[in-house]
Amino acid sequence: MGSDKSGEHVLDRVLTLEIVRVTERAAVAAARLRGRGDEHAADQVAVDAMRTELNSLQIRGTVVIGEGERDEAPMLFIGEEVGTGEGQEVDIALDPLEGTTICAKSLPNSLAVIAMAEKGSLLNAPDVYMDKIAIGPGFEPGLVDIDASPEDNIKKLALAKGVPVDEITACILDRPRHARVIEAVRDCGAAIRLIGDGDVAGVIHTTNPEETGIDIYIGIGGAPEGVLAAAALRCIGGQMQSRLILDTDEKVARAARMGIEDPKRVYSMEDMARGDVLFSATGVTDGNMLLGVKFEKNCIRTDSLVMRSSTKTVRRISAAHSHGNKFTGGLT
Ligand code: FBP
Repeated sequence: MGSDKSGEHVLDRVLTLEIVRVTERAAVAAARLRGRGDEHAADQVAVDAMRTELNSLQIRGTVVIGEGERDEAPMLFIGEEVGTGEGQEVDIALDPLEGTTICAKSLPNSLAVIAMAEKGSLLNAPDVYMDKIAIGPGFEPGLVDIDASPEDNIKKLALAKGVPVDEITACILDRPRHARVIEAVRDCGAAIRLIGDGDVAGVIHTTNPEETGIDIYIGIGGAPEGVLAAAALRCIGGQMQSRLILDTDEKVARAARMGIEDPKRVYSMEDMARGDVLFSATGVTDGNMLLGVKFEKNCIRTDSLVMRSSTKTVRRISAAHSHGNKFTGGLT
């Protein structure tokens, strides 16, 4: 663990460039199974590829957000130790294929994603639902509030942007549970981008409304995806709040075993991802911000965003992987 000029602990910056290989490799593996209608197979090859690459990194890593609990996920389960066992001690949140259904149907915005932070800095969220609200950078802190109505949040955002409400677009997962939120957003005059899956991308898209057309993310998705999205926003800038949906005694008990004492707690972005955070996402299918993997005659092309919270540097890495190397499924 190093320090920056202010004396704060920071992660080794070389890791920023190392983790992109991890998502690139998972994305290439998953992309081979785009549009085959087999979510499970696409996820499995992405998991294998991500794990192999992760284990070549010089880190002492622990998966805190992964493929599930140890008894349900044989690989990249919560608590699995990854890396060479030498180097910095880090916590890792990952999703080798975010949007398994999107990939299986070859629809936009499936990603391979990973976040890394100093040990103890990522929320150990159970695999339950999470209520989320997020906007991009450049607004006064606390502009949106998870406990305010969708209308209030959208009106405040429109005012802060200096645009009428009908120029705001909210991204919402297309689920029956969102019927009331969808109605409220439409009633106040804003537009909605309904997405079938993939709310990590949905949250990240709020950081660049000019390119993505999305100003605000609202609604309930997976808690692990929430932590990953918070890690991304810590790096790019933006605001996010969340609350776990712990609506059964079993979920409350499971969360308690993971250290969550207050089941109704509102989490800020910093509560979900503290300190220096690294984040990488590689497109599997074409999306609003990233291109999907391209299989060409002489190479395989990948498109990634890699970023780091301590410097707020966002790198877009477009890579051409020659045939015959590990990304092609040949050498490892
Ligand atoms: P998977 O990659 O595990 O298929 O998750 C896709 C996803 O759409 C997430 O982006 C989102 O957070 C979650 O599923 C929503 O869950 P549900 O499909 O149960 O509404």
